[in-house]
Amino acid sequence: MEIKNKKIANDVFFSERKEVLKQWPTGEGVDFDEAVNYQKAIPETKQFGKKLVKAEIEGETLIQPRAGVALCKEHIELLHFLETEGEADLLPTTVDSYTRLNRYKEAQTGIERSIETGRSMLNGFPIVNYGVDLCRSVTSVLSNPVQVRHGTPDARLLTEISIAGGFTSFEGGGISYNIPYSKNHSLEKTIAHWQYTDRLVGMYEEAGVSINREPFGPLTGTLVAPCISNSVAVIESLLAAEQGVKDLTIGYGQCGNLIQDVAAIRALKLLAREYLDKFGYSDVTITTVFHQWMGGFPQDESKSFGVISWGAAAAVLAKATKVIVKTPHEAMGVPTKEANAAGLRASKQLTSMLKDQSFTEIPAVIAESNIIMQEMKCILDKVEELGKGDFALGTVAAFEAGVIDVPFAPSRYNAGKVMPARDNLGAVRFLSVGDIPFSKDLLDFHREKLEQRAAFEKRPVSFQMVIDDVYAIGKGFLIGRPK
Ligand code: 5AD
Repeated sequence: MEIKNKKIANDVFFSERKEVLKQWPTGEGVDFDEAVNYQKAIPETKQFGKKLVKAEIEGETLIQPRAGVALCKEHIELLHFLETEGEADLLPTTVDSYTRLNRYKEAQTGIERSIETGRSMLNGFPIVNYGVDLCRSVTSVLSNPVQVRHGTPDARLLTEISIAGGFTSFEGGGISYNIPYSKNHSLEKTIAHWQYTDRLVGMYEEAGVSINREPFGPLTGTLVAPCISNSVAVIESLLAAEQGVKDLTIGYGQCGNLIQDVAAIRALKLLAREYLDKFGYSDVTITTVFHQWMGGFPQDESKSFGVISWGAAAAVLAKATKVIVKTPHEAMGVPTKEANAAGLRASKQLTSMLKDQSFTEIPAVIAESNIIMQEMKCILDKVEELGKGDFALGTVAAFEAGVIDVPFAPSRYNAGKVMPARDNLGAVRFLSVGDIPFSKDLLDFHREKLEQRAAFEKRPVSFQMVIDDVYAIGKGFLIGRPK
């Protein structure tokens, strides 16, 4: 199978769509024209993209949790609690793991067992099993826009039911929901599956309904240097735009050094805009999302609030359009609604308190973001070259060649040669770049940064630094120093 970054032809799309809607009985409940009318009747205040654009214009950073339980009534109560007690500006519906793997029979058993036991036996809300009408019973009763958040390599049916079900935003992408989540799915396949999702969103756009799309920024969430996740975000933006997506929110996961984090969002915005314009998609809207720390959390709840608050501060100083909020239960598993609301309120305090301050144009940030953009150009130029101008083809070749290489990813389609480590100020650098095609200047820059740390710690640059860095925040530090 050869993948191309080309809008899927009508006949190809519609014959695929027939099969997709047969994957589970609720697929029959999707009626595109009826869904268009339903979406058009959703008030503006509950449209995800509209709320984001308003925040972007006003320089505000919105807060959004993750949340999902097995049963409808409880899920509604949970989301209602998060918007009232948690002051959430945007709502999620986190989908359970069976649904993410297209295992709808097991999701059904999970629903039944949850009814029997009176507690949620799924780690999210099984959208596909519930179908269009029950999804609408959720999305229609809340005051804020609701987005579907998941981690699904093949989300075609999930997209169909979600949009018809009244959700106005959909997370994921063919790279970002494959490489960090899956071992065996080929990139050709998942890019094709996500072209379907984007093509469907494009079809709604053509019918006058705007659906917000958010590629998943943080990837594995573990020492992912900004140039890697930003390059993937730019590529996923180009692929989505080609299928007709008009409203994109691109993301980045906090690394922990404030200057680097603010610079990453700055570089992401600038280059995504540049690439979308360059390839003819200047009518696509871009907003940004900053993810609070995605790595290991402290067990202690008060210490977790420290991590959460630092993320909220970095997000607002970077002028991200929204921030995805963690909870003080992160180290334990799925949070209670109270813990979830507590993480939100801690974040809200920071996003409101610091909203008049911006770090985006201070000299240190500009310098760092210039470096990130140089790194991204090295990667993106090579992707373009490998694909002979086609970014889908180029992406597959780039992963094969290790030109894009995501640290700590489980996928066998990822080279796994790069080794990231923090420098002496905690910014994420490369101890080894593997086959990422950096210029000599950039290679020297990274080596120099790690040598500075090694000298300070009186130990050689080594893999031990990587290990120490992975566990540092859980132990109360950003940089994994020797004892
Ligand atoms: N409710 C709340 N948070 C969830 N996460 C995953 N599933 C749920 C859920 N059902 C969170 C994890 C982690 C992130 C990737 O998603 O705790 O923070």
